Amino acid sequence: MILVTGGCGLIASNIPGDDLLLTDILPGCAEKLDVTDPAQADQVIRRHRPSAVVHCAAWIDLDQCEKDPVGCFRVNVVGSMNVLSACRAIGARMVYLSTQLVFDGQKRTPYVEEDPVGPLQQYGQSHYSAEQYIRGYENHLIVRTSLCHGQKRGGERYGFIYWVLDSLRAGKKIDVVDGFWTTPVDARDLGKCLRVLIDRKATGLYHYGGAQYLSRYDYAVQAAERAGLDASLIHSIGVEELMKKWVARRPLFAGLDGGRLEREFGVAPSDALAAASRDRKEAP
Ligand SMILES: NC(=O)c1ccc[n+]([C@@H]2O[C@H](COP(=O)([O-])OP(=O)(O)OC[C@H]3O[C@@H](n4cnc5c(N)ncnc54)[C@H](OP(=O)(O)O)[C@@H]3O)[C@@H](O)[C@H]2O)c1
Repeated sequence: MILVTGGCGLIASNIPGDDLLLTDILPGCAEKLDVTDPAQADQVIRRHRPSAVVHCAAWIDLDQCEKDPVGCFRVNVVGSMNVLSACRAIGARMVYLSTQLVFDGQKRTPYVEEDPVGPLQQYGQSHYSAEQYIRGYENHLIVRTSLCHGQKRGGERYGFIYWVLDSLRAGKKIDVVDGFWTTPVDARDLGKCLRVLIDRKATGLYHYGGAQYLSRYDYAVQAAERAGLDASLIHSIGVEELMKKWVARRPLFAGLDGGRLEREFGVAPSDALAAASRDRKEAP
């Protein structure tokens, strides 16, 4: 059995399999497990004795993390250490979801696993700190992923690209930044990839990025064109305009190169744009 923390969240909702035990801070879709409570983490994980724990629980709002670095550290670092300690106690594999935001965005091509990190904000720093503790445990797997879109277990769709496509369908003009390059990921593909890695007992560090490397503007325009929507409603704005509104700094270039995953496990990066456009074409 595989125990999942943050089980009601986006990435956890897309991991296939009927052997998953979902846990989350709020009961409802899952058994209650607040990862910041060491006794609870230890008790729940020991009770179920999973062969692996996929640790998805986190604070993911970059600006919230920047405004409350202690809260961010408590959930993203201490929470991860609590899960790690419980995994160690029973010898379970720890699978950790990390982020492209461990990088500083100075590189103009997607990052590979060997590239040096340099987080620009509390969120990326917290993930990198957690990674370092987790690497000290031999039975670990860390998967860094790029910006995801997809559907949560409750049915809610989540992601920048759905905002774009929904706005265009409603005939609304939108401003989209011409910058912040990434390799967008469809959560369904990431979930399938995680399943392959778990089943094949992968260890170490892997990057998961989509097949396209795009600025947010190009991402929006290309997805709109594929969905047969009017891309002329998308107005490009400069990065400075958006940076003024944000508390946390973001790297200008931050895609991930999934080449190692493809070479070692045959998991090819997905065409995330096609999937998002299809979703919106099929939406009622
Ligand atoms: N989605 C992306 O684009 C993306 C990209 C790169 C990396 N990641 C990383 O991948 C992981 C999963 O991301 P996601 O997109 O699935 O996030 P998500 O949808 O926000 O899911 C995270 C879940 O963790 C829960 N949670 C928060 N605090 C918790 C606590 N103390 N104990 C237990 N659960 C708690 C959240 O509940 P609430 O919603 O009630 O807070 C939420 O259900 C995160 O580490 C994230 O940083 C995500």
